[in-house]
Amino acid sequence: MSNPALQEIVSEIRHFATIAKDFASLQEFSVALIAERLPNYNWVGFYMLDPSDDGVLVLGPFRGAPTEHIRIPVTQGICGAAVAQGETVIVEDVSSDPRYLSCSIDTKSEIVVPIRLNGKIVGEIDIDSHTLNAFGSADRTCLEECAAVFGQFLEHKEKSAT
Ligand code: SME
Repeated sequence: MSNPALQEIVSEIRHFATIAKDFASLQEFSVALIAERLPNYNWVGFYMLDPSDDGVLVLGPFRGAPTEHIRIPVTQGICGAAVAQGETVIVEDVSSDPRYLSCSIDTKSEIVVPIRLNGKIVGEIDIDSHTLNAFGSADRTCLEECAAVFGQFLEHKEKSAT
């Protein structure tokens, strides 16, 4: 990762995960931090699989314009594609991707990174940018490291609850 802002974000989220009282506060901290530090990340949010229906993603904490996509079937959107493919999806130009579900007319590019709990996808981080091709390998690495922190946090919580 060459961008120091990205490295700083990972280390601050990693630290906050050691003191966060629950996953919701870690999510709130993370979306606020990421949106504040990276001006070309114009919408930053979580979608988590519905615990009672793992075919649907449910909007969680976010920063940016309100979206009509509160619940997204995993068969739809870039968000659904990341779950279906089981990997990070980067779309350089959303206008040329037929899977794209529009949240804002200003969005030009998007990255969606799955979050895994014990190897199984439980949700994802979704970022939109008003800049074309805003997400490169450094963004991907940073966000995948953040997603690993979220997954480990959930694993620890699950273990301590049993
Ligand atoms: N663009 C996403 C939908 C969510 S909004 O961007 C917040 C998609 O295509 O799945």
